[in-house]
Amino acid sequence: MSKMDKKRMKYAAKPGLMAALDIGSSKIACLIAQPFEDGTIEVVGVGHQVSKGMRSGNIVDMTALELGVSATIEAAEQLAKENVRDVVLCTAGGAPESKLIAFDVAIAGHEIGDGDLRRALDPTWLYARQNEDRRIIQTLPVGFSINGTPVRDPRRLYGEKLGVNMHVITQASSAVRNLESCAARCQLDIESHVVAPYAAGLATLVEDEKNLGCICIDMGGGTTSIAVFKEGEVIYTAVIPLGGNHVTNDIARGLSTPVSHAERMKTLYGGCFVTGSDSHETIKVPLIGEDDSEENQVPRATLADIIRSRIDEIFEMIAQNIKDSGVDPNIGRVVLTGGASQLAGVRRCAADILARQVRRGRPAALRGLPEAATGPSFSAAVGLLHYALAERQQTSFTSLYSKEMPSSRFGRIGQWLRDNI
Ligand SMILES: Nc1ncnc2c1ncn2[C@@H]1O[C@H](COP(=O)(O)OP(=O)(O)OP(=O)(O)O)[C@@H](O)[C@H]1O
Ligand SMILES: [Mg+2]
Repeated sequence: MSKMDKKRMKYAAKPGLMAALDIGSSKIACLIAQPFEDGTIEVVGVGHQVSKGMRSGNIVDMTALELGVSATIEAAEQLAKENVRDVVLCTAGGAPESKLIAFDVAIAGHEIGDGDLRRALDPTWLYARQNEDRRIIQTLPVGFSINGTPVRDPRRLYGEKLGVNMHVITQASSAVRNLESCAARCQLDIESHVVAPYAAGLATLVEDEKNLGCICIDMGGGTTSIAVFKEGEVIYTAVIPLGGNHVTNDIARGLSTPVSHAERMKTLYGGCFVTGSDSHETIKVPLIGEDDSEENQVPRATLADIIRSRIDEIFEMIAQNIKDSGVDPNIGRVVLTGGASQLAGVRRCAADILARQVRRGRPAALRGLPEAATGPSFSAAVGLLHYALAERQQTSFTSLYSKEMPSSRFGRIGQWLRDNI
């Protein structure tokens, strides 16, 4: 028995606990929460670690990733004094893709009940159309109609024809397989798999934003990902494989300084713009490969130029992605979250390029959440707990069918949507 196995068997697994695991390119985070009957939850365990095996959302070193995941889970378990087995997982990796599909189901004029809806939403037929290199990770109903008239919830209504709009999210099969294997080696079962920006949106958006329309942008280390919400549901997600770490590398390369120093400069003095008084200021930059006494004096404006060009590139890619997606171009405001959203001036860059109102978002308060986990880096991890709670309380449509569906047990999924769905 490995050291890890012994430790993880110290506590009895307690039914009912929820565990969220966010495997990012910069950090791995785990939150364990206790749900209560009144619908509230309390965070009872937190773990986070620097992520070593993931780059831009792709696993590049399985051994390092496994060590990171098991250490993160163990740290959270020790605080919770409980073991966990099932986790709700998110990553921004595996090149997730969103598709909206529409289909009708005949209901023969009776009152629509839970059973009808469960049958209508059963995605088995979609799984049968997968192809080998993509796997469905989520099927989310995003709109219903009865006899062609849109309805919010079709239950208890009468009609002949129930129309369903379904948001289908897929990931590269190899990425999903790697995550499954990593989880299995850490003695974890993946209860649900959520794309990171969707989870980040659940933690940061207020109800009005989700209902009226809003784009959540999760600015991570290796990725920048987006989730578009409308009428309370997520209707589109996408991931761009560029993030805050690319900004750091640009600084290191541009100023010939070590990456660790570039990261420090970015968080201490970095920003997308310089204001009048700062523009003449210079910063001392140690040179790579030189001893400590060798330094360059670099104008703050030069640092800002390096940062700005990468941040502009990221928002331009997002603008293009949204344009190509067919999402309503008038969709509401933008909420920026994720560790890299803390960079000074990103809000202004986003507002200029995306031509929308922009605010910064961090996870909404949650009982027991320690100060260290209230920053924007933790949005996705906190959002996973909201997701898990909605599933447990069956307040989401997905909870009607997800328990029996293969989406929660990847092993049973075979192929991906073939005929152009
Ligand atoms: N104060 C700060 N100012 C600017 N950038 C920051 C600050 N703090 C953290 N960052 C940047 O945030 C990034 C990490 O963000 P986050 O923790 O959300 O990433 P992640 O979830 O691990 O990665 P990903 O979502 O891409 O897989 C790093 O690039 C880091 O440099
Ligand atoms: Mg992240």
